[in-house]
Amino acid sequence: ALERTLSIIKPDAVAKNVIGEIYSRFEKSGLKVAAAQMKHLSKAEAEGFYAVHRERPFFSALVEFMISGPVMIQVLEGEGAVLKNRDLMGATNPKDAAPGTIRADFADSIDANAVHGSDSLENAANEVAYFFPATSVYAR
Ligand code: CMP
Repeated sequence: ALERTLSIIKPDAVAKNVIGEIYSRFEKSGLKVAAAQMKHLSKAEAEGFYAVHRERPFFSALVEFMISGPVMIQVLEGEGAVLKNRDLMGATNPKDAAPGTIRADFADSIDANAVHGSDSLENAANEVAYFFPATSVYAR
């Protein structure tokens, strides 16, 4: 089915200047950018976005990392977009990420892991709405 998912290019990948290379992978897989915004998140914004992880031991490190520099946030649209984006990203820990995935090629550690992608259709809807009002997401 046609889906939308939220993708974030994290501060490490923005600093490495690989926004375009990552966008190219989205486009080559058939995903379309339906909204995009570069933003330096506030602590409150990062904490709110990752609220599901609040009780996890890595939460404060995650938030500090996500506010360490600007991120590139996009809505990706396409057939099976949630799973397709997760396949492109590879495993959360780059040590486990399959060759040719975004994390295998650009991530340095489980914290500095280059990209975030929604893990379910339900979370995708919430995450898209967290950053983009419905009127700023464009059907592609
Ligand atoms: P992300 O997909 O953005 O979702 C939560 C992030 O927490 C994850 O990517 C990792 O960068 C980070 N993280 C750090 N440690 C862990 C861990 N043990 N398990 C899952 N995520 C972790």
